[in-house]
Amino acid sequence: TAPALQLNTGALLPAIGLGTWKSGEEDTYNAVKSAIAAGYRHIDTAAIYGNESAVGRAIRDSGVPREDLWITTKLFSTQHRNPKEGLEGSLERLGLDYVDLYLMHWPVALKADKLATGHWFSIPLLPDGRRDIDVEDWDFVKTWRLMQELPKSGKCRNIGVSNFSINNLKKLSDSEDKLVVPAVNQIEIHPQLPQTELIDFCKARGIVIEAYSPLGSSDSAMLTHPVLVDLAKKYDAQPANVLINWGLSRGYCVLPKSINAERIKSNFRQITVSDEDIELVTHLIDEVGAKRYVQPDWRPWPIFE
Ligand code: A2P
Repeated sequence: TAPALQLNTGALLPAIGLGTWKSGEEDTYNAVKSAIAAGYRHIDTAAIYGNESAVGRAIRDSGVPREDLWITTKLFSTQHRNPKEGLEGSLERLGLDYVDLYLMHWPVALKADKLATGHWFSIPLLPDGRRDIDVEDWDFVKTWRLMQELPKSGKCRNIGVSNFSINNLKKLSDSEDKLVVPAVNQIEIHPQLPQTELIDFCKARGIVIEAYSPLGSSDSAMLTHPVLVDLAKKYDAQPANVLINWGLSRGYCVLPKSINAERIKSNFRQITVSDEDIELVTHLIDEVGAKRYVQPDWRPWPIFE
């Protein structure tokens, strides 16, 4: 089993979860089943991933009691005006009575019309490489005010945010009406994007961090790097295990994504990398450079300040 992290609500979050972004329906079903069989008790999905029903089917077929699992899903940006509706839609697709954690996926509301078909990739690309979908004039603080009411319904046990910067978090804490402190901030973190300042800011405020793309996403420059390959050999493990341990040793939850049963199982194997070798991983950035893999493609950009 993975260690657990205590949220500001008292809930215990399993520190390794399965990421499911970009996984299609059948791949997701098989991945979630493999993960639960391998010992994972934490699955991360989102309304916009389009795979919530597959996650739900796999959970039901896993034979593991619902209360032993931690399920996170996310409110997509086209539903900021009605998070209750967003949550209920997700629960219906998941076939669950509640989720353990409901996150605001982005601190940005989008105009809903272009997503009528429900698929992000159906939105045409513009010549500048962005999607033909616009940001809506709507303050995410209002979304959070609405999300605060959701745990009272019992339909989500904890609420949090994702892709929030220090400035975004400050906007919540600076609000005149005392707003609930998010339990979690889920952000991209790996040695090429260490996010140290944001992590420290969250730690000081009791917000638990979850790292997505902990391996450097689908075209990771790190997994094949000789420094990491050599380190992995030293620990008789895979480069991915070293990156996962790097995250755990920095005190947050990691969400490695895979649709391959063997890699899913292998990623759950926990090793302990020495402090000296953790330093080597931290310095990978000097060799491969800084990189943010996940960049939203709506207009306008950027949004991470
Ligand atoms: P696959 O799903 O085919 O296993 P991240 O978690 O940073 O988003 O990275 C996910 C990417 O890394 C996916 O492309 C995934 O591919 C791949 N991946 C996951 N686990 C491993 C592993 N143990 N070794 C190599 N690649 C992996």
